[in-house]
Amino acid sequence: MKIAIIGLGYVGLPLSLQFARSGVHVIGLDIDVDKVSALARGDSYIKHISPASIREQRDRGLFEASTDFARIRDVEAVIICVPTPLNKNREPDISYILDTGRAIGKHLRRDTLVALESTTYPGTTDEDLRAVLEQESGLVAGRDFHLAFSPEREDPGNPSSVVASIPKVIGGFTPQCLARAVALYAKAISNPVPVSSCRVAEATKLLENTFRSVNIALVNELKVVYQAMGIDIWEVIAAAKTKPFGFMPFYPGPGLGGHCIPIDPFYLTWKAREYGQHTRFIELAGEVNTAMPEHVIRVVTDALNDLGKSCKGSRVLIVGLAYKPNVDDERESPSYVLMDLLHRRGATVAYHDPYVPVIKLTREHPHWAGTKSTAWNREAIASFDAVVIATNHASVDYAQLAAWSGRIVDTRNAMSVVATRPGQVWKA
Ligand SMILES: NC(=O)c1ccc[n+]([C@@H]2O[C@H](COP(=O)([O-])OP(=O)(O)OC[C@H]3O[C@@H](n4cnc5c(N)ncnc54)[C@H](O)[C@@H]3O)[C@@H](O)[C@H]2O)c1
Repeated sequence: MKIAIIGLGYVGLPLSLQFARSGVHVIGLDIDVDKVSALARGDSYIKHISPASIREQRDRGLFEASTDFARIRDVEAVIICVPTPLNKNREPDISYILDTGRAIGKHLRRDTLVALESTTYPGTTDEDLRAVLEQESGLVAGRDFHLAFSPEREDPGNPSSVVASIPKVIGGFTPQCLARAVALYAKAISNPVPVSSCRVAEATKLLENTFRSVNIALVNELKVVYQAMGIDIWEVIAAAKTKPFGFMPFYPGPGLGGHCIPIDPFYLTWKAREYGQHTRFIELAGEVNTAMPEHVIRVVTDALNDLGKSCKGSRVLIVGLAYKPNVDDERESPSYVLMDLLHRRGATVAYHDPYVPVIKLTREHPHWAGTKSTAWNREAIASFDAVVIATNHASVDYAQLAAWSGRIVDTRNAMSVVATRPGQVWKA
């Protein structure tokens, strides 16, 4: 069996390798020439995917990368894993899906299955994507070709999360489309979960991500409330999670990050308006979570003030630029917001992140491009008036940090496992 996977990023590349491992021949397609050449050389651009795992499948002849979309003519199924960001007005931008749909449509043959994996609002697959596929190909979905939606459940940085063993929700445009999609995914994934439509599958992914966003907002709000009462939220969560039923722990932080949780719920908000519906939980969670960096900055200011220093003129180090521990993905990271807020208040800001040696050029934070991670040694760390732990990478030595820094603002409870001096650590 030969398939194409379009979009070789955090989702598409591991999925491609999983299909290849299962004996399916995968043509990985991307418009990014640099990624395609890296894969052809057997190099990886994602920290948790080893070059050896790419070379292994390439050398078996089961994985190749290309920019030539005409290769779609050779395959039985096409899986789409392209980005679904928000535009500058915080509305869904499904242009990547539509562009990909047009590119597929030009080469689409009868009986091919097209499955979308990008997170999006209900109706994208059977309205928007179907329209461009039918228009470009002249074929009809459900009759001439098959159409499905199956959301990705990638958990980057979690070593026990393996693509093959994560149950996979699948919805088809027709029962035949569903049967085709389940048969395809069953080749590489041990637990397919069929649902009645593409829309149910799309809505399932949005429920999962909204659930996280709302629960994170809840603990973020309680963090601030309990802090005012002199109660440590981390101790409270540790105690609450001993309840064997009806409770699931979520942890506070400096704000939401990553490509999913801060963005996906707003896909639903936008679509709900078309039906005259409001998503109050989503809006409120967004409000609470986006207020977190300001809360952290208030604590930093208090911590500096306690030393007789103002934010203006102080040197502040952010530890952890990636949005979650042990990954190199710093998209939408709240660390950037912290850096901007401190910079605006006149502080000299630097960062340390073992996974992000230098900040790449991004659309959202072009002014930090080229900034290098501060070296990890006593002299460098002691030169900062305060250190803010924004992400708790396991490879950072927090005992060294306690020895080297006089003032630490901890948003992740990372310092709880090492000995510290009274007044040295300020939780935020
Ligand atoms: N990263 C995650 O943990 C995660 C988890 C679940 C779902 N998702 C969803 O999966 C989708 C992809 O996310 P990602 O993190 O893999 O993104 P990514 O940015 O890492 O990768 C997307 C890839 O698509 C390529 N691309 C863009 N436009 C293209 C086009 N027209 N044709 C071909 N390739 C194109 C890009 O060059 C890039 O390599 C998003 O909808 C995201 O919300 C991501």
